[in-house]
Amino acid sequence: MDLFDSLPIEQSGMTAEQEIKALRAELAEQNYKYYVLSAPTMSDREFDEKMHHLQELEAKHPELYDANSPTQKVGSDISKIDSFPRIRHRYPMLSLANTYSREEVEDWVRKLPPGVEIVAELKYDGLSISLWYEKGILVHAVTRGDGTEGDDVLQNIKTIAGVPQVVNGAPERLELRGEVLLPWERFEALNKQREEQEEPLFANPRNAASGTLKLQDSREVARRGLTCYLYYMLGEQLPGKTHYERMELARQWGFPVSEAIRVCKDVDEVMAFIAYWDTERKNLPVATDGIVLKVNNLAEQEELGYTAKSPRWAIAYKFAAERQLTLLKQITYQVGRTGVVTPVANLEPVQLSGTMVQRATLHNEDFIRQLGITEGDEVYVEKGGEIIPKIVGKRPTPTLPHREGENTGYRFITHCPECGTELVRVEGEAAWRCPNEVSCPPQLKGRLEHFVSRKAMNIEGLGSETIALLYDKGLLHSIADIYSLRAEDLAAQERLGEKSAQNILQAIEGSKQVPWSRVLFALGIRMVGETTAKKIAKRFRSIDALQWASKDELTAIEDVGEQIAENIVAYFADIRNLEIITRLQAAGVQMSSEQLADEQLAVPQVLEGKTIVISGTFSEHSRDEYKQMIEDYGGKNSGSVSKKTDFILAGENMGPAKLEKAQSLGVQVISEQEFLEMIKQEIQ
Ligand code: IVH
Repeated sequence: MDLFDSLPIEQSGMTAEQEIKALRAELAEQNYKYYVLSAPTMSDREFDEKMHHLQELEAKHPELYDANSPTQKVGSDISKIDSFPRIRHRYPMLSLANTYSREEVEDWVRKLPPGVEIVAELKYDGLSISLWYEKGILVHAVTRGDGTEGDDVLQNIKTIAGVPQVVNGAPERLELRGEVLLPWERFEALNKQREEQEEPLFANPRNAASGTLKLQDSREVARRGLTCYLYYMLGEQLPGKTHYERMELARQWGFPVSEAIRVCKDVDEVMAFIAYWDTERKNLPVATDGIVLKVNNLAEQEELGYTAKSPRWAIAYKFAAERQLTLLKQITYQVGRTGVVTPVANLEPVQLSGTMVQRATLHNEDFIRQLGITEGDEVYVEKGGEIIPKIVGKRPTPTLPHREGENTGYRFITHCPECGTELVRVEGEAAWRCPNEVSCPPQLKGRLEHFVSRKAMNIEGLGSETIALLYDKGLLHSIADIYSLRAEDLAAQERLGEKSAQNILQAIEGSKQVPWSRVLFALGIRMVGETTAKKIAKRFRSIDALQWASKDELTAIEDVGEQIAENIVAYFADIRNLEIITRLQAAGVQMSSEQLADEQLAVPQVLEGKTIVISGTFSEHSRDEYKQMIEDYGGKNSGSVSKKTDFILAGENMGPAKLEKAQSLGVQVISEQEFLEMIKQEIQ
């Protein structure tokens, strides 16, 4: 029995109609998580299996047809926020019928008219993009969106080294479609950096590429190092009678077309291509998740035609993620810096894609319940596009079918494994948390680590090991203790010695120059991240002012919601925190920004009294940076064009409605460069 086989209807206790409805809702939600949030919570395989099951049910019950069913539509990656210009595809952007079974591939090939040539290619696992060229110039780069309309991410695509911005000898109008990817190496480096900065990690390169392409700041996109492969050409009166010829041509024009492309004459050649790349793909710099087979001849493609969702002339064979069965020996629990308790699966070690796996995260209580697993179960561990192995299910007992969410007798722990405090679970949150912020060791150590980290007080030499050492010796308990450390205390530690003791003290001394906004971030108030801290510090220029701020005053600050405001008020209501602050102040840590205020006044207020509207995308600075600059230089930001608008700062792809309105009101439109000239801002 396959792990993801859905239960027969009579066993699931649902009618066909109920099951169809449930599957439609579940798949629609997964589509949203995958395409919009770039954070799926279901494996590709499980998604595909459920989609197939839904297709089967719908075929059996045509009376329940619904044009809005996920089986009838491609998933949508259109951002909910209006951050990129929306563009209608000239040709709908379809998906491909897919299968995990080699037999089905053979069937598909055999059912084609005799003598048909098939092109075999790699299926790249990134996100699809449509590049529009007009008179040889790249004018739009549109994401798949919902298949009908997508986001124009042109500025971001222009940062990809291999994508030509100008093509010589190409037809008037040309469209090339392909996949944007983040190479494994870049993905790993990015995650490493995010781990250091305590930002959430990307589960796989596909999500990382998708998150990157939706960034507003093209310079950051450029730094991440995306890459691209093109696999489909569209347009009118294009040269070439076959797909293969067109790909050759695209390569000659300078487009990045993969070398892994083969014309196959029969099913054996197709199967040999699949077998070869099944292993060889592991040596590629980018993620692939299968093989795409396309009828080569374009006239034959026409004849075969399309379904609502995909062409009949192509099919994707997907490689199964590598999966192993092993014993779940024990579930242990880890307490993080913020008190969140994460369950961890301790496994009988097992070899998977070349590495030994013995631990895997179980995320939270709900995840464990959904899988219906408990200690002593045999579980499946999978490593697909993801670097981190994950548990995807348990081996079903032959007699009893496994039901999702069944009661296994498993109970999440009730008390903190580190300090014994009773755990709490806030309504609406998935995590259990240890509420003992004051004396739970990992929370204390975590707060110390956060305080000294690079983006906070930047105290080099005090790494997590040294902190743990000093904590265990009773020398460090709260962040204020850092400023009472003495040279002899440090030097007396085995691993430290005099030289490093001196360096640490010097770094501590240096941290007294760190500006107030970063000190505020360093304090580690729940949910007050780097950017929020900056905004708060700008409004409240000293800790004395912030300490008395009301919830209303706080929520008036951009980005500060109810929850953050409550956390801040609660922080200052705790006398232990006030004591720490007094000690930090006495040690000379910056708790105000009078200096900054003076500096800011020195900025020439060249935009004084001007109301400015920002539109489009920019290349030198991000939109937010421009908004900040406008304020710093005395101007006012506004969201819509009116008679009161002094000028529009227009980037690429300014919205046509805004442009029209500006013209009708006679409002001046200035470019990014003109703006920078105006404020004489040094471009870094
Ligand atoms: S052809 C009309 N070729 O897979 C057919 N797609 O599941 C257009 N993909 O949306 C697609 N590698 O994002 C094609 N060599 C390849 C591909 C490929 C990856 C993606 C593409 C498509 C998805 C379908």
